[in-house]
Amino acid sequence: LADLSVSQIHSLVSHAHRLKRIYTPLLRPVEMQPSRHREPASSLKHKTIALLFSKRSTRTRISAETATDLLGGRALFLGKEDIQLGVNESVRDSARVISGMTQGIFARVGDHSEIEELARYARVPVINALSSLWHPTQVLADLLTLREIPSLTVESEARLKQLRPLTVAYVGDSANVLHDMLVTYPRLGHQLRVASPEKYRAPPEVWNRVVELGCDQGIFWTADPKEAVHGADVVVTDTWISMGQEAEKEQRLKDFQGYQVTEQLCLEGGANPDWKFLHCLPRKEHEVDDDVFYGKRSRVFHESDNRKWTIMALFDGFFGHWQRHPRAWIT
Ligand code: CP
Ligand code: NVA
Repeated sequence: LADLSVSQIHSLVSHAHRLKRIYTPLLRPVEMQPSRHREPASSLKHKTIALLFSKRSTRTRISAETATDLLGGRALFLGKEDIQLGVNESVRDSARVISGMTQGIFARVGDHSEIEELARYARVPVINALSSLWHPTQVLADLLTLREIPSLTVESEARLKQLRPLTVAYVGDSANVLHDMLVTYPRLGHQLRVASPEKYRAPPEVWNRVVELGCDQGIFWTADPKEAVHGADVVVTDTWISMGQEAEKEQRLKDFQGYQVTEQLCLEGGANPDWKFLHCLPRKEHEVDDDVFYGKRSRVFHESDNRKWTIMALFDGFFGHWQRHPRAWIT
């Protein structure tokens, strides 16, 4: 999201909301569908989107496949066992070949440099479906989810209300989801309070983008989870052991002791009494207990539903309209 302007981010979230409103009634059982409806967009008609996934995925993959389908296109899922990439063929050559036959690439990679290289050599737009450093599509879904919570929004005529300035607390590992929050929330006028053990703080390549965008002014770091949740309207966490870090599991479980999100932690830390909870999923109980995760504050399943609409907005903009109007559709 560091590559997008504030107005591009706002227009993507608003577009996702619009798509959700148009398509949700059409996906209901036939007898519950409206008799008259607006004709949905089919910006991906005749187009094929390559989904290059070298790591597992439930939400991101299903969102991408179903969204492409609704936009009239075809999603081609290419897992790491399916193609030559990274085994018999370089990223550079694969990027040229795949982009000669498809109209967009959505890629989930290991090291972030792999997606940079794909983007350098591909002739079609490349969107990050998660890398070692970033997870932009997750944070777009989080923004849509927050904008759907009335207590977090300000009065507005629009159906999708604007967020009021929020205090957002993140408790846990400084990983890809947090990194996209760091380059986004402060630019949108929200304060971020992050609790992470000293040795797990954002790496220099992430922090340089944070500073470049002036986001560092809106971020407070601490190693104390209670301090981080002070005044929080929203509390967010992620797994302590991201994909690819399985060998560090034992050490990480020790290092994150005391970081579990619970009612008690937020009460003692002085969170806003009406705080809400987000988690990208998949979730383990050590990072958030069942009371919070399945409780009244949790918006985690709205958040996973919203992956589809936000990815659909991105595909519609960057894959559907890109070739005729490079970069102009989302301004
Ligand atoms: N949140 C998320 O990206 O989930 P998946 O790994 O299942 O796609
Ligand atoms: N940080 C997690 C996010 C999973 C959606 C990971 O990279 O595994």
